[in-house]
Amino acid sequence: MKNEILKYLNHKLSVEYFDVLPSTNAYIKAKAACDEGLLVIAERQTAGHGRFDRKFHSPKNGIYMSLLLKPTFIGFDTTLITTAAAVAVAQAIEQLSGKKSKIKWVNDVYIENKKVCGILTEGAVNPKTQGFDYVILGIGINAFTPENGFNSEIENIAGSVFEGFSTQLMARLTAQVINNFFEFYIKKKEFLTDYRSRSNVLGKEIYVLRNDTKVKATALEIDDKCRLLVKYENGNTEYLNSGEISIKIE
Ligand code: BTN
Repeated sequence: MKNEILKYLNHKLSVEYFDVLPSTNAYIKAKAACDEGLLVIAERQTAGHGRFDRKFHSPKNGIYMSLLLKPTFIGFDTTLITTAAAVAVAQAIEQLSGKKSKIKWVNDVYIENKKVCGILTEGAVNPKTQGFDYVILGIGINAFTPENGFNSEIENIAGSVFEGFSTQLMARLTAQVINNFFEFYIKKKEFLTDYRSRSNVLGKEIYVLRNDTKVKATALEIDDKCRLLVKYENGNTEYLNSGEISIKIE
């Protein structure tokens, strides 16, 4: 599989491939001193995690990968790494499966109302410069349905990109996501227009979930920093940052 992935990658990266890891993000964290471009891929994870420390089910037939980035050297707006990655995944899915994919602010990719991908970006801030020493971009894609189906906790919300199983499609999708991401990250190709046009929340009634509160609002706009502008029922508006807030589509 590793050689197959290398065949389709447009960039020379240091790729480490595993049958199983607790978490590819955690693995990279321990290797954060490495150069930008370390790509770690696991066939399954035993302790995959998502935003807000939620468990990310990671059985075989999915793609679990993390990429080590040092954006300080490249001058890319770090807050947009997740955004760029979501577009990279959505485009790769369409390129290889022909299926339309949508993005739920900020980091989930959907096909026909089922989540097929989650993205978790973790970084270490340098206390002196306030910039990032490194960023770990972690991407989990339900490429194919797991052999025993999705876990009961997620079976109603999760979907997969392809039917059946194909090593070649796994390898191509893995590489295509990275190739697309580098178009944005290195070549600075514009991606916010595509991000907005794929949004499945803009114009919709949503719930803003913050700590233990749940407030109804309308999603109005996504700005250039990928903040979501919402209007509450009392008429107040607010720009939401992804860090501490998640949303639920009504
Ligand atoms: C989410 O849905 O909240 C984000 C999920 C991110 C999962 C990926 S899988 C590869 C990497 N390793 C992890 O433990 N998490 C990310």
